[in-house]
Amino acid sequence: MKHLLLLTLVAFLAASCSSDELPDPLDIQLENRLQQLSPDGDIRYFILPESDDFPAIPQGRGNPLTPEKVELGKLLFYETGLAADAVYAEGKGTYSCATCHLPTAGFMPGRGQGIADGGVGFGQNGESRGMMNNYEEEEIDVQGARPLSLLNVAFVTNTTWSGKFGARFANEGTEELWKDDTEVNNLGLDGLEAQNIEGTRIHRMRITKEWLDTLGYLPLFDAAFPDFPESERYNRLTASFALSAYLRTLLANEAPFQRWLKGEQNVMSEPEKRGAMLFFSKAGCYRCHKGGSLNSVEFHALGVHDLYETGGFNTGPDDIRNFGRGGFTQRQEDMFKFKVPGIYNMKESPFYFHGSSHHSLRAVVEYFNRGIPDNPNVPEENISPYFHPLNLTDAEMEDLVEFLSHGLYDPNLERYVPDAVLSGNCFPNNDPLSRAHLGCE
Ligand code: HEC
Ligand code: HEC
Repeated sequence: MKHLLLLTLVAFLAASCSSDELPDPLDIQLENRLQQLSPDGDIRYFILPESDDFPAIPQGRGNPLTPEKVELGKLLFYETGLAADAVYAEGKGTYSCATCHLPTAGFMPGRGQGIADGGVGFGQNGESRGMMNNYEEEEIDVQGARPLSLLNVAFVTNTTWSGKFGARFANEGTEELWKDDTEVNNLGLDGLEAQNIEGTRIHRMRITKEWLDTLGYLPLFDAAFPDFPESERYNRLTASFALSAYLRTLLANEAPFQRWLKGEQNVMSEPEKRGAMLFFSKAGCYRCHKGGSLNSVEFHALGVHDLYETGGFNTGPDDIRNFGRGGFTQRQEDMFKFKVPGIYNMKESPFYFHGSSHHSLRAVVEYFNRGIPDNPNVPEENISPYFHPLNLTDAEMEDLVEFLSHGLYDPNLERYVPDAVLSGNCFPNNDPLSRAHLGCE
């Protein structure tokens, strides 16, 4: 009897090994569907570039990618030494871009809202950061929307949830609106390069020749910007160019779905493949989450709650960020419409949508499946026509969650993190409590 069982097992294993020859029908189905959705009928359309294949990565106007810029940006992004323009001495040198865009949290903050200057603590993954005692709520560096993930932002031509940065693409025709923080668009740059000029200022980072010299960065700026006259080489523009070059290389190109596209059919499980099939067909996700990066610079209202309703600091019902694209354009038809975000590596910062209103990928999928807006402030005529009941079964929702949480999860983002920054400081945070949490002392 035992032998018979063993024999059956061996026969079964042998059969499943020979599946090399017998292709999985699910693979063929998914391949066919992706071919249909690809503008050139080729599934390679969905493959993200390799991070060092610069010609294949979308580049910003005036900012061609070079290894030197990427290397410099990779340090500046984590450099807590730049945090020299903090409101109080206690905040100085304690935060970086990565405080709100943690690689281990899919380049999101690991909590519902990012806190840079005036924040304290890290926890395991950003979740236990709070306010420093001596800061008032209006003094801390927070914003009225959850930080966006920075994975695959090379494919984002107009940045922020409202798409307000960037002179071209979605913002052609909005020139008369470019004032205050968006005045920078008048330089004619694309979203990343424009935004990050403002970003270092808003996030209270000191970018002067003297300070960069103190921290030891001048030689790296020299190597990255040899074509810039010395008088124009060490400033917010060049820092932004380096940061943007680095951000353009942050590609989730090792996620199982990406490896599947490149021919490794066994890296996705059957449920993930079924989930992918749902994503690209019945569930309709592909209508807005497009291309290899599964985002788009299009704006849609899904009627989710805002950050002031879910416990954000220093925000409220009048926060311009609640209005999405409409907060920038002031047009009634754009009100409450938000840019379609990328959705790779979503599982380690469980605060979804611009107001951090949902806390698991299952809850996100159930929200799309119900198709009933949560937020009564959003007028019905602004809600996307694609947001409607999907009639997915419980098992289908499970498969879709498998695809999102594993198929779209690049497990090796540490490759984008430097070993150390030039100041020698702890990073991404450097306040005493974070240092203890991060094991820096
Ligand atoms: C206090 C937290 C915080 C810090 C620090 C921070 N960010 Fe952000 N980041 C955000 C928030 C919030 C958003 C979304 C803002 C919005 O939509 O209005 C965002 C959005 C972005 C985006 C737009 C992404 C997209 O898809 O549109 C980029 C790029 C970015 N940040 C880069 C940076 C860089 C570079 C730094 C360091 C100079 C930085 N951030 C520091 C909170 C932060
Ligand atoms: C009508 C266009 C549209 C469709 C269809 C759509 N999405 Fe989205 N998706 C968006 C927009 C816009 C947001 C951001 C909305 C907000 O925060 O206000 C978003 C957010 C998300 C998020 C959260 C991302 C983040 O940064 O918090 C996930 C995950 C997601 N979508 C997955 C899906 C899945 C799965 C489907 C299919 C069931 C789907 N989407 C269908 C437009 C769409």
